[in-house]
Order: sequence, then structure tokens, then C-alpha cells
Amino acid sequence: MKQHASTRRLALALAAAFAAPLAVAATPPREVAPRYDASSHVFRLDAGKVTYAMGVDPDGRLQTLYWGARLAADDPLGPATPAPERSSFDPKGALSRQEYAGWGGNITAMPALKVKFDDGNRDLILRYDSYRIDHGALAILMRDVKAGVDVTLRYTADPATGVIGRSARIENKSTQALTIDSAAAATWSLPSGSDYSLRYLTGTWAGEWHLQTRAITQGATVLESRRGSTGDENNPWFAINRGGAWNEEHGDVWFGALAWSGSWQIRVDEDILGQVRVTGGFNPFDFGYRLKPGESLDTPVFYGGYTADGMGEASRLLHRFEKASVLPHGEQAKLRPVLYNSWEATEFKVDEAGQEQLAERAAKLGVERFVVDDGWFGARNSDHAGLGDWTVNRTKFPNGLKPLIDKVHTLGMSFGLWVEPEMVNSDSDLYRAHPDWVLNFPDRQRSEGRNQLVLNLAREDVKAHVFEVLDRLLAENDIQFLKWDYNRNWSEPGWPQMSPDEQQKVYVAYTRNLYDILRRLREKHPGVEIESCSGGGARVDLGVMALTDEVWPSDNTDASDRLSIQDGFSQAYAPATMMSWVTGSPTWVNNRAMSLDFRFLSSMQGGLGIGANLLTWSEADNTTARHYITAYKAIRTTVQRGDLYRLLSPQNRAAWSATSSVSTDRKQAVLFAFQRQGEEARAFPTLRLQGLDPVARYRMRFIHGAAVPGTPEVASGAYWMAHGVDLLIKGDFDAAGAVFEAP
Ligand code: DGJ
Repeated sequence: MKQHASTRRLALALAAAFAAPLAVAATPPREVAPRYDASSHVFRLDAGKVTYAMGVDPDGRLQTLYWGARLAADDPLGPATPAPERSSFDPKGALSRQEYAGWGGNITAMPALKVKFDDGNRDLILRYDSYRIDHGALAILMRDVKAGVDVTLRYTADPATGVIGRSARIENKSTQALTIDSAAAATWSLPSGSDYSLRYLTGTWAGEWHLQTRAITQGATVLESRRGSTGDENNPWFAINRGGAWNEEHGDVWFGALAWSGSWQIRVDEDILGQVRVTGGFNPFDFGYRLKPGESLDTPVFYGGYTADGMGEASRLLHRFEKASVLPHGEQAKLRPVLYNSWEATEFKVDEAGQEQLAERAAKLGVERFVVDDGWFGARNSDHAGLGDWTVNRTKFPNGLKPLIDKVHTLGMSFGLWVEPEMVNSDSDLYRAHPDWVLNFPDRQRSEGRNQLVLNLAREDVKAHVFEVLDRLLAENDIQFLKWDYNRNWSEPGWPQMSPDEQQKVYVAYTRNLYDILRRLREKHPGVEIESCSGGGARVDLGVMALTDEVWPSDNTDASDRLSIQDGFSQAYAPATMMSWVTGSPTWVNNRAMSLDFRFLSSMQGGLGIGANLLTWSEADNTTARHYITAYKAIRTTVQRGDLYRLLSPQNRAAWSATSSVSTDRKQAVLFAFQRQGEEARAFPTLRLQGLDPVARYRMRFIHGAAVPGTPEVASGAYWMAHGVDLLIKGDFDAAGAVFEAP
């Protein structure tokens, strides 16, 4: 895989940090140099508009001193002092804001790491030992006081956004085996206060990305997935505001996202002193990772950021970081092509003639990528059979996929194919041959979801098989895109081939092997792009994002529901990654009818796709579609690579929704506005744009809709931002889209 330069730099820096002896290497100019002040024993990371500081207290605890707006280089920070004894119940140090606390000694705060040694000892006291800085990455070695365990804490800081990356390597240095009961990637600490609130994302199939807000009070809030994969019940992202009022443009926001696609947990605690801690990493539920002497475990990376400029800026910082430093190819990533996918049109009834017919229609509209979804392989005529048998179904495609692929290419489109490589139907040749390959506990039931079982990717033979199958598929067929689906949770997560005390390693090994397969496929087939889909948006996180080019946020393609889904998604993830299809009306989801205009404008807020049955579209529909696809191509760089501003929130079934995207050079802005429901002849709210160059003059033109009479065509950025624009939007499911361009 061709890694983007800055991702590669981060990876190299981390690799070097662990390979190199304790020495300070020359720092390349663009890297942020962490600083260490030996007199106060304080470490400092300054990046973007953020300063992050930690100090070693006299007992050797590494404590968070500061995380917030950037401070002057010579501002005093530290020294760290242990939390004083409050009472016999809260002795000295028990509530100190430790960066990474082991569970041991008198600690009462939430620990980041809990282990048990084979001899029964469960005490772990991590104290500062040493540090090294290499290529901008800081590594701090924490040691158990009895030399049982070493923990190396890694820190990177992105100079552009101030996003800090934190993770830990846990090494068994003792002479006996131990089991890790829980291991976080990091604990983020905020100073004491009683006015914090939390935002997080909840969801379910076809109803992902609901934005929730709750006050942080004393006690804990647990966000998690115990499902084996990221899940959609919660997403591994959080934002914390201080001061009570959530605002898109103003206010302190701390935010974070975990780069892990297995079971995870982010726990937000407020202790009795009002100190807020966010501890995240592997989900401790059913966790148990055994380390023999000399073995180690790396946690995922937990990224965190801060802004004083409200929730909108928090999202933009995260989006910028994802685009530049997480996604494969970073800034050089290709724009998402306009895609057609046949799933909603044909479901499992795919065949050569039908797909060719759809491809011809799609090409005429200006579609750039044609994707054959589920149903092309094995005995896959429904979701009851065939998963695992990745050979072309010769009844549906008598001559293999080649004729269709050639046809799609002749029509000027790239070709994509659906796969669900981690799953197997019990009615499949693969399962009949290898019933032991699935997650299971011997002699217990094997619970199915959508008639399928989960292959145990933690097994090396299963991993090798999955890689080989996909490698062959890509080698034998001229494929440019894989939609990688994953349609159920884990159940009975046993790994009977391992000894009982090693079996729970499945939670880590499975996900790492998934990443390894993706990484190697990308390396071997650099021209192939991949979408992460999990029955919709159940596997979206910064871990999988580093190895895929786009994600599918939801199976819910109802253009009105999508406004909320996309808004929730955008809190954490960049529109550059978010695919959105225009599908049929009325929708299968709600039986709701919406105009093609409304459906297109809703989908144009991300990577545009079409999932409707094009054979049912009239010539008028085709003309409309051509109009929007042409318009989209002229604005997609702005939508996908620019900055997103959320102007009106569609959350909580609000009547209105509006966003604008501004190109990085601020020469183009795109405005989308939607009304779900008209009431009492009320006018649509005046929309004031954001992020424009106040002195540049922008000409407004409409993709669809109009402004109220008297609105100027050309005005300054200041005018559009301060005075704003009033749109003529009336009635249910009406929408407008406008482009603002400066010469
Ligand atoms: C779930 C996906 O989210 C859908 O888009 C579709 O690919 C189906 N699976 C196919 O089984």
C-alpha cells in the first residue's frame, strides 16, 4: 500500500521510537518536537492551537497537567504533585490525574491497565522511568515498581490540527506469565469542573448516527461495543464541552476517537473532585490477554483534540486529520467517483444481462463506477446460502465476470464487487469443509445472524484462506473496487484450538488479522479501492479508515432520514469518506415519497452514488439525474476535500437542515438546504454562510431552487456570512442547492 507521507511518518516515528536506543534523533522540520524540562520534570507537546503537558510527581506518577489552547512557550507548567490525602478513603495520590494508571497500590480512580500474574498477584504500580523522542514521537517508559511490567506510552502530535495520538505497549518483564484483564490506550484528563457535558453517537441498523448529549456528573458513562467489531450502538468517538452551551461556532470542545475495529470501550468518569477522565481502549468485557515473559501487547491508538471554537471546528479538525493523516493516500487520495450499486434494484437477482442493462443506463447518466452487490457468487440466491464460496455463480454469469467487467470498462466506468469475506453461511461448501473455522464453543449452539456465522480470522489458516481468496479474485478479474461487508455481531466467541487461557486473545488477534489482510491486499493490488460496510455503518472507526477509502454509513437510504444520519456521521468523520446513494421513491424504509431533487441534494453532501432501479426511471428522471451528476462533479472537490459547516441541525427530527462546504482555497462554497416539513407558511430560516473570505466577491448560482426576489447574485463573503441568504423553500420535502464562487 502506498501510504500517505504523514501517516508513514507517524508510523515510522513510532517504529523508530521502539527500535532505537534512548537517544534524541534529529527532528525533521515539519514534525512537532515534544519538549522535556528536566528542572520541573514536565513534558510538553505543542501542535496546531493545542498544548498538552504532563509532569512526573515526586513519587514517579506521570500526571496530566494541561490539555487545551496553546500556551506561550515559556509559560510555567508543573511541577506535578500527587493529589493530597482527603481522608482515609481517598489517600494521597489515589485520585491523581494519571496519564496511564496501573491498578495497584491505593488507587481509586479508573485505572488504564489491570493485570494478574500467575502467582495471584494483581498489584501493578507504574512509575516513570525514562523517555525518548524520535522523529517527533515521544515515548515514555513507565515501569512497575517490582519490575513486573513495562509500559511504553507513545505520543504523537499532528502539527496541522493539534490532534494527539496516544497508545501503550505493555510488556511482561517478569519471570512468570500474566493476564491482562483490561488495557486502555490512554486516559485523557480534564481539570475539575461541574459544567461539562458529553456528546456521543448511538444507533442501530438503518438508524445509525444519532447524536446524544448529556451532562457529565459524578459517576460514569460507558460507551462501548461488546460485539466483536466497532458496532453501531455506540461509535468510538466522544466530544466534551465545558460551559453548558453546545455551539457550532464557539466554546471549548475536547474530542477523541479510537482507532480500533474490535470490541472497544470509552468510559467517561467524573470523580468526587469533579475531575473528568476519559479512558478508552480494548473493551474489558470478556477480555483476557495472556503475556508470557518477554511478550507484549500494543493497544490501539486513541486520538484526541481540542478547540476553543465550538463543535463545528472540532469536527473540521478531525476531518482534516482523517483526510491528511489517516486515510490511505492522505491529501493525494482520489476523489470519490460517482457510483452505481445495484443492491436496492436487484437484491440477489443479479445476472449478466440485467447488470449490463443497468450499466448502460448508469453510464449514460455520467456514473463513473459500477458496483455489483451481493448475489454474484456460489449458491447465493438469498441470504440463506453461499457466503464463503467466492466463485462466480455460473447460472447468473455463464462466462464468468469478464464479459460484464469488460462491458463496464467499455462504458468508461470502473468496476466494483461486493464481498463479505469474514462470514460463512452454514449452507456453503466452505462451512461443510471447515466447520471448525467459525467462532464457537465446542458442544454449544452456534447462533446465526442472517443465517451466517463468523469465520475466526484470528486463526492463521483462516486468515491465509481469506487473503488467498481475495487475492485470487483481484488477480483474475480486472476489479477496481471492493465493497467489504460484515453483516452480524459475534456470538459464542470461542477459539477451541487454543488453550483455554489463550482463547480470549481472539478479541485482539481477529482485528489485527483483518487489518493485516487489508494492508496486504492494498499492497498487492494498489489500484483497488475498498469500502468498509457493516450492514450499514456498524464498522466505521479510525482503525478501518486507515485501510479503506470510503465507508457506508447506513442501509437507510431514505433521503430525509439520511440528513440526520449524515449530520451525526459528520460529527466524527469526514464527508470525503461518506457514501450516499440516491434510491427509489417511495423509500423501502418509510414508504416516504420525495422528489429526485431532494434525494440528489441529500446524497450530494458526501460521495454521490445511485442505488435506484434505473430501468424504472423516465427520460425526465434521466435528464434530472444528468443535471445533478454534472453539477456534483463541479463541486465534489469542495464537498469531499473542503471544510464542512453545519448551519441547521436535522437532529431530533427537526424540520430543517442545512450545511455548507468551503473549498480549501475559499474560492468555492456549496450550500445545501432542506425542509422536511412546512408549517404555517413559515419562511425557511435565513442562512448565514461561514468560512468564506470576507473580502472576496462571490457569485451565487443555483443547482436547484432559488433565493427570494431581490437577493444579489454577487456579494462579498462578509455579506453572505453576516447578512446571509433567504431561500425560497416551501412545503414538505423541498430543498435547494447553491454554489458560491469567487474569481
Ligand atoms: C448490507 C449492506 O449494507 C447492503 O448495502 C448490501 O450490500 C447488503 N448487505 C447485501 O447483502
